This record gives sequence, C-alpha cells and structure tokens, in this order.
Amino acid sequence: MSIWWTCPLCNQSLSIDGANANAAAGGSSESVSKQGNRLSCMNNHSFDIAKQGYVNLLPVQNKGSKNPGDSKDMVRARTDFLTEGHYLPLAETLSDVIKQLISTDKNLNSGLDIGAGEGYFSNSIVQTNTVLKDHWYLLDISKEAIKSAAKKFVRAHSAVASVFSIPLKQQSVDFVVQAFAPASVDEVNKVLKDSGYWLQVFPGMTHLKELRAAIYPKAIEHEPWPVPNGYKEVQLIPVNFTMHLTTAAARANLLSMTPMVWKCSEQSRLDWQNQGCENVQADFLIRVCQRDS
Ligand SMILES: C[S@@+](CC[C@H](N)C(=O)[O-])C[C@H]1O[C@@H](n2cnc3c(N)ncnc32)[C@H](O)[C@@H]1O
Ligand SMILES: [Zn+2]
Repeated sequence: MSIWWTCPLCNQSLSIDGANANAAAGGSSESVSKQGNRLSCMNNHSFDIAKQGYVNLLPVQNKGSKNPGDSKDMVRARTDFLTEGHYLPLAETLSDVIKQLISTDKNLNSGLDIGAGEGYFSNSIVQTNTVLKDHWYLLDISKEAIKSAAKKFVRAHSAVASVFSIPLKQQSVDFVVQAFAPASVDEVNKVLKDSGYWLQVFPGMTHLKELRAAIYPKAIEHEPWPVPNGYKEVQLIPVNFTMHLTTAAARANLLSMTPMVWKCSEQSRLDWQNQGCENVQADFLIRVCQRDS
C-alpha cells in the first residue's frame, strides 16, 4: 500500500523503507508496510514509524513550543468524554453526510482529517464508510493526540504535522474534515482534489450555553465560522441535542476540552464540576463546501 505523505523537508514523496525492494522481489507491498519501520524520501530524509503506528512529520523549526497542540491532560479529558458517547449524534450525522456524498459519486474514496485529535470523528467516518479505510489520513500537531489516534487507523496514516504546512501529496484527497480545529485555505487547496469536499464542524450559537453562563459572568455566543475563500457552501446542517452530564467527571472533562478552562478561576471550575448543570446544550453546524468553479 503506498503512502501519500510527503517529506516535510524537501516535499518529495515518501515511501515505507523496504517496500520497493520487497515488491521487486515479488513480495506483497502490504506485508512489508507492516514490517517497514520508517518512511524515507529520495533525498534520504527519514522518519521513524512509532510503535503506536504514527509518524512524526513536524520539523523541529515548525514546532513553536516543546509540546505544541493539546496536552496529555486535554487529550485524556476529551477521550474520556467522547468515549462516554456525549458527541455521538454529531459523529453519526457527520458520517452519514459523507455516506450520502459517496452514494452520489462512487469515486470518492479518500480523505484527510486536519487537527484530528484522537481520531474520534475519523473513526466513526471510516467505520460507516469502509471504502475510505485504506486512504484515510489524519494529522494533528499534538503528539499525545496522534499517539492515541494511530492505533485505530492504517499504519503510518496518522502523522504529527501542522495544518499550516500539510505534508501530503498534492490534489490527493476527496474529503478534508476540519472539526473544531484551525485550517489554512491554501493548504487545503493544495491537498484537496478540485472536485473534493471540505467539511467544517464548528459550534453553533447556543453550544454549551449552560457552561458558558457558569464560567463567564456574561455568556458570549459563538459566531459561525466564515465560508473559506474560494469555496461555496453546498450544505449547512445543524445538529442539536441535550447532553446529560450526570457525573462531576463528565462536567470536568467537558470544561477541560474548551479554552474556557484557561480563563476560569479555581472556584468556578470546582462549582461547575460539583454543582454544574446536568443538562447541557450541544449545538453544532456541519458545513459542506466545494471549490468555486
Ligand atoms: C478542539 S481539538 C479537536 C480535535 C478533533 N478534531 C475532535 O473534534 O475531536 C483541536 C485540535 O487541533 C489541534 N491543533 C491545534 N493547532 C494545530 C495545528 N497548527 N496543526 C495541527 N493541529 C492543530 C490540537 O492539538 C487539537 O487536537
Ligand atoms: Zn526529503
């Protein structure tokens, strides 16, 4: 199986070490892809595949800090929260939106999740749409997040990398998924096929209004994300439901998943965790975009 990542140092294609030699010797490239332990380019830059199955394609000079992106604690809080199923209706709707798009065009079989976190939405998408399995890629700048994501996906398809410098073959994917993560239009343009879809997932106006009311004296409503320049919106799907956060741990995890955790006092954090509202509004928008022709 070929790899679509490119070298972050020279932009050349990467391949799994040994795959070519084995194919030449008559072996299957897939069996070797399980054995090879690094990706390398024709200029001899090489990147180890970690035992969890991810590859680090973030050059030191692009790191910005020692451990960029979500920390281990944030990743753990989000994993626990998502595993309890609180965002399941969103994952199912997103996966079904992609299923409908695939049903109208059988050639759609590849995608990239940018700022994928621990791959919760990607996992649901690929489980629902198994045709995507072999060509589904994930990246996140947080090593902790990608470490956790990598186990669920094809080996070496998860990478530590930045959305602002995406090391993937040009015009290679049919879908780009951007869920609650930053993005660069130029970088998405680079990797998305002309006919491809950019799916954005972002909070609606009333998302977590109970939590915001508890943490901010004056709750601020979320603004909708702008449609990316050069794209048209082909669908905008609201997803609303009430989450039942009956334990202090669930409420604490939710707070830890949001930037509010950095702004709130210790007292309001404890009040929310121990006596916060059990019924919390989830309000999301899924926007399907296509490039303007
Ligand atoms: C709110 S989380 C969303 C994670 C995942 N999409 C989800 O919805 O479960 C935002 C993610 O974006 C990642 N991130 C932030 N800046 C990034 C960048 N420049 N490049 C790649 N990922 C980035 C963070 O590490 C974090 O995992
Ligand atoms: Zn290189």
